[in-house]
Amino acid sequence: MAARYGIGAILQPRIVINPIKSNNMFEKLRQQSFTELIAGASTEELIWMNGFLSGTLAWRKNGAAESIVPVSIASSKHTAVKITIVFGTETGNAKALTGKLSTLAKKLGFIVKAVSLEQYKPANLGKEQFLFVVISTQGDGEPPAAARKFYDYLMGTGDKLPQLQYGVIALGDSSYPQFCQTGKEVDERLYQLGASRISPVQLCDTDYEDVATAWFSKALNSLQSGVSVANVQQVSKTPGATHKRQYSGVIGRSINLNDRGSEKQTYHMEILADGVSYEPGDALGVVPQNPAHVVERVLQLAAIGPDDALVYRGETSTARQLFTYKVNITHLPVRLVKRYAIIAGHDIPEMAIALSDLLASYPLRDNAHIYEVLEILEPITPRLYSISSAPATTENEVHILVKRDEFLLGDEKRFGLCSDFLTTLTEGTEINFYIHPNKKFRLPAPDTDVIMIGAGTGIAPFRAFVAERAAQGAPGRNWLFFGEQRFATDFLYQTEWQAHFDAGVLTKINTAFSRDQKEKVYVQHKLVKEGATVYEWLQSGACIYVCGSRRPMSMDVEEALLQVIATHGRQSAEEAQAYLDGLKQADRYLQDVY
Ligand SMILES: Cc1cc2nc3c(=O)[nH]c(=O)nc-3n(C[C@H](O)[C@H](O)[C@H](O)COP(=O)(O)OP(=O)(O)OC[C@H]3O[C@@H](n4cnc5c(N)ncnc54)[C@H](O)[C@@H]3O)c2cc1C
Ligand SMILES: Cc1cc2nc3c(=O)[nH]c(=O)nc-3n(C[C@H](O)[C@H](O)[C@H](O)COP(=O)(O)O)c2cc1C
Repeated sequence: MAARYGIGAILQPRIVINPIKSNNMFEKLRQQSFTELIAGASTEELIWMNGFLSGTLAWRKNGAAESIVPVSIASSKHTAVKITIVFGTETGNAKALTGKLSTLAKKLGFIVKAVSLEQYKPANLGKEQFLFVVISTQGDGEPPAAARKFYDYLMGTGDKLPQLQYGVIALGDSSYPQFCQTGKEVDERLYQLGASRISPVQLCDTDYEDVATAWFSKALNSLQSGVSVANVQQVSKTPGATHKRQYSGVIGRSINLNDRGSEKQTYHMEILADGVSYEPGDALGVVPQNPAHVVERVLQLAAIGPDDALVYRGETSTARQLFTYKVNITHLPVRLVKRYAIIAGHDIPEMAIALSDLLASYPLRDNAHIYEVLEILEPITPRLYSISSAPATTENEVHILVKRDEFLLGDEKRFGLCSDFLTTLTEGTEINFYIHPNKKFRLPAPDTDVIMIGAGTGIAPFRAFVAERAAQGAPGRNWLFFGEQRFATDFLYQTEWQAHFDAGVLTKINTAFSRDQKEKVYVQHKLVKEGATVYEWLQSGACIYVCGSRRPMSMDVEEALLQVIATHGRQSAEEAQAYLDGLKQADRYLQDVY
C-alpha cells in the first residue's frame, strides 16, 4: 500500500561499514544482502534498525507469538506528520524514554511535540490527531502524581475522541501485582472514548528501552504505511524473572538516631556490598520477609504443617518458606479481600487486612479452601529507601535511613513489614537489594546553588547530596531546611550537618522542630520566613529539592513556595504558579516524595 503519510527523506549522511567477515550464521546470499543493507544505511536508518532488531529479539526471547513484519522507512515528498508524545513519570524513566522516542521520530521526519502530562491540557485531546502516551504505574496500581490530573480527567470525561489515533507505552515492574495498570487503563479509556489504536498497548517491564523503541518504530511505520498493527497486547515481561541487578550485602552499622524520649525510631543503616553502584538521588529497593510469628499464626489458622509442600505460581516450596519469603500476608489489599470473601462465603467489609486476621475473623469453612486462597495471594512487593550515602565518599557501601513504621490496630501495636524487617536486622546479617535509579532527582552542575527541603527521613538523600558536593569541591551554595518533632531527640545527623556548616559546605541551615513550642512550626513556615533570600537564590538560578512525605509535607511546601514567589517577586497567584511551573519544566524544582 502506498505511503499515506510521508516523511522527509533523511538518508544523509552515509557512513561506511566494513563488510561482515564470513561466518557460519548466514548463507552467502543473505549475508551479502545484509552487508549491503548496512553499508548503504544512513545513521538514522541504523538507529531505527537497531531499535527494531533489539525489540524483535526481546519479543522472541519473551516468546511472543506475533512475528514482526519488516517495514521500510518510506521516503516521500508528502507533508510531515505531526505527533504528540505525552509522558507521566515519577522517577524519570518515562521522561527519558520520551526524549529518545522524540529524537527517533524527528530523525524519521515526523514533527514531534513532547510534553509532560503535568503540563498537558487534557482539553487538547479533542484537537490531537496522533498521540502517544508513555506512562508508568506507581503505588499499588496508581498513576504517577504528575499524571493524576490527566488521569482523572480521562476517567471522568464523556467527550468522545473519534478523530484521535493513539498508542500507549506502559512502564511498570512485574514484581508489583498491578503490573502496568495505569497504562492499561489509559489505553482502554481512550478506546472507550472512540479513539483508535495505532498499535496495541505495550506493557514494559524494567528492561523497557529496546522493546519500547521497537514498538514505537513499528507504530510510526504503520502511520506511514496506513497498515494497522495486529491487535495483540504486547508484554515485555518474563514471568518470575527480574532484570534488576540484584546485590547481596551485609548489614554493617545499624543505629537508632533518635534519643530516648523520642516518639520515633529512625535507623541509620550501613550495608556493605562490594561493587555496588548508584548515584546521589537513587533509592535502594528491598523485598522484605514476613516475621516468623506472623507466618506461624497463618500456618496454624490454615492448619498447614510448616514442612508441607505447596505449589505457588508453578514453584514448589515448603509452607514456611512460601509464607516467609514469597507471598504478601501482612496487608492484603481490598481486591484480594473481596475474592477471599467469595472463597470463604462470608460478608467482609471492604478493607485492607492481614491474612492472619482474615483467617481468624472469617474462617474458611473447609480447610481445603486454603489452596484456593493460595491462588489469589500476591507476591511481597519491594519497598524503596532513599540512599543517604554519596558514592564519592562511600565505596562498596550504601547507607539508608529507615523510620520504623508503627501503627495501632485496635489496641494492638503493629509494625510496618519492611521497616520492621530492616530495623531488626543485626550486624553481619546478609541482605539482598537492588538500586532503583531516580533520574528525576539529580544534583545540578557543581556551580549551581541548591536549596534542600527535607522532613523526617526526607533528609536522607540530602546527606548524600551534601557529601557529594563536598567531595566534588562544588562551588555552588547549599542550603538545608530540616524538620522533625524535637531538637533534643530528633535532630537526625546533627553533628554531620554541624561539621559541613563549619567547613563552609553547608551555606545555610534552617530547622523546624514542630513540638518544641506551643505553636506547631514546620519547614514550610521556615521557608516563608526566609522568603526574601529564597526568592533571591531562585532568581540567581538555584535548584530546589523536596523530600519526605507527599501528604501533607510536600503540598504545604509547594503552597509556601508559591507564597514566597508571589510576595517577593511581586507576582499575582497566576504568575507565581507559572513561575513554579517554569522551575519544574527546567528541572529546577524536584521532588522525591512518598
Ligand atoms: C521513592 C521512595 C523513597 C522512600 N524513602 C524512604 C526512606 O528514605 N526512609 C523510610 O523510612 N521510608 C522511605 N520510603 C517509604 C518506604 O518505602 C516504606 O513505604 C515504609 O518503610 C513503610 O513500609 P513498611 O513495609 O514498613 O510498612 P507496610 O507494611 O507497607 O505498612 C504501611 C502502612 O500500611 C498500613 N498497614 C499495614 N499492615 C496493615 C494491616 N495488617 N492492617 C491495617 N493496616 C495496615 C499501616 O497504616 C502502615 O503504616 C520511601 C518510599 C518511596 C516510594
Ligand atoms: C513505589 C513504587 C510503586 C510501584 N508500583 C508499581 C505498580 O503497581 N505496578 C507496576 O507495574 N509498576 C510499579 N512500579 C514500577 C514503576 O512503574 C517502574 O519502576 C517504572 O519504570 C517507573 O517509571 P517512571 O520513572 O517514569 O515513573 C512502582 C515503582 C515504585 C517506586
